[in-house]
Amino acid sequence: MKVKYTRYTILFGLFVLLFSSCKTETEAKVVSTEIDQEYYRPNYHFTPENNWMNDPNGMFYLNGKYHLYFQHYPDDNVWGPMHWGHAISEDLINFEEQQIALYPDDLGLIFSGSAVVDYDNTSGFGVDGKVPVVAIYTYHNMDGEKRGDIDFQTQGIAYSLDEGMTWTKYAENPVISNPGIKDFRDPKVFWDQRNSKWIMSLAAGNKIMFYSSENLKAWKFESDFGELKGEHGGVWECPDLFPMKVEGLDEEKWVLLVSINPSGPNGGSATQYFIGDFDGSTFTLDKNFNKQLEKNTAVWLDYGRDNYAGVTWSNLPQDDGRNLFIGWMSNWDYARDTPTYKWRSTMTIPRELILLKKDESYLVRSRPVRELKNFVSKEKNKDVITPRDFQTLFSDNTIDFEKLSFSLTMTELKNEAYSINLYNAYGDTLKLGLNNKEKFIFLDRTKSGKVNFSDKFAPSISKVHIEGEFNLIELEVVLDKTSIEVFINDGEIVLTELFFPNSPLDSISISSNDDTFQLRDVSIREFNFN
Ligand code: FRU
Repeated sequence: MKVKYTRYTILFGLFVLLFSSCKTETEAKVVSTEIDQEYYRPNYHFTPENNWMNDPNGMFYLNGKYHLYFQHYPDDNVWGPMHWGHAISEDLINFEEQQIALYPDDLGLIFSGSAVVDYDNTSGFGVDGKVPVVAIYTYHNMDGEKRGDIDFQTQGIAYSLDEGMTWTKYAENPVISNPGIKDFRDPKVFWDQRNSKWIMSLAAGNKIMFYSSENLKAWKFESDFGELKGEHGGVWECPDLFPMKVEGLDEEKWVLLVSINPSGPNGGSATQYFIGDFDGSTFTLDKNFNKQLEKNTAVWLDYGRDNYAGVTWSNLPQDDGRNLFIGWMSNWDYARDTPTYKWRSTMTIPRELILLKKDESYLVRSRPVRELKNFVSKEKNKDVITPRDFQTLFSDNTIDFEKLSFSLTMTELKNEAYSINLYNAYGDTLKLGLNNKEKFIFLDRTKSGKVNFSDKFAPSISKVHIEGEFNLIELEVVLDKTSIEVFINDGEIVLTELFFPNSPLDSISISSNDDTFQLRDVSIREFNFN
């Protein structure tokens, strides 16, 4: 018996060993995304078919089509000589990749920029009554950079007479030469209706410069903003200035988005914003918003680590009235190392931005575009349930966590911590929650699967500090294979992050020491994109 026991123990030990090595093998097999190169391809977030992508560029809407261009290196899965890739969507969710729009030329690589529809043919590029679409972008001259010059970034333009499909570069590029500023890039242009001129916001190191033009070719410097405002722990990039109606009020304010890398609220790249007024020449910060900055340094569009360089679509139909935004869902801290190989990088879900007046100041809320709801194939709704029933609601194993959104309000919260945990049988867990004791909202991907490809990917949990205690919190969560986008209190606080689980996250639980809180207005929506 003793012998047997020992044998069994050994056998058991062997089994454990075998099982664990088996598990490692399975894990290795499942996670070998170098072999199964489509494994991490998102179900409904845009990725290029092949190779590298970063910032969204040149977004405009025309005749039923949402155009999305993007920083693209078509020859490798890491950053390289930049082109503009192109994709088109008719529903804001399914984007179809097109042929490359802009290639590097003698003046340099094609860095980030914007595109406008020039209805009045102010540029003169239009012929035979065709409306030109004009792209305004940065030339990055590699030779100049290598030589150690300071003026290697200039601005160029190109036009399209077939609604953005093919482009001709302007023969007299660059249209803005470099005034001696090393980081001088990412022009975002809009038509200023009131002053009948084009306005460009341009990132220039630690500030934004505004230019104006009557024809998109000759540009005049107007003013600059930001040297002593907001976060300055990195380089300012990818600005976007646009007017917004204040929700529910007969008031308009101007929003200026400014991306910065590094020094985001949870490390690396992130996007801050400013609210004020623009008179056609100068951007003036709103007084109360300025007070907010004095308290917090910066106000962030997204507190997660993976929403960068986002800007808004131009030329949306007047009767739409929305400000639609998309961001690059990655971070320069580790973008080149994420475990996808065939392609690298994803865009966020397109979002609607809403301007809200609150406590005498203003804030920008984000929401997933309502078009996402057009793809709901299954929905479960409950008015009030307990956290345990919430879990049961999900335990129907036909629910696909890789194309899902859910929303809920946690109510009757106390001075406790609350965590929603998404996990799988491997033990990969992604946690999202509220810590009322230590006063922060959090997203924790530290054990969410593959994290070791970069020591900057998950060195700590991402936090948003809150003032006081939340006795209720409203959440909307958008899930795809490798991304979570969390919109808190109707998008007042947003957290967007990537994760790379060893096998799909397929279970959910809610944990807390508090056993009396409730969930209200629970809704689970599964999508179908076929
Ligand atoms: C932002 C950015 C831009 C630049 C582009 C280059 O991510 O650094 O400032 O134009 O990427 O790819």
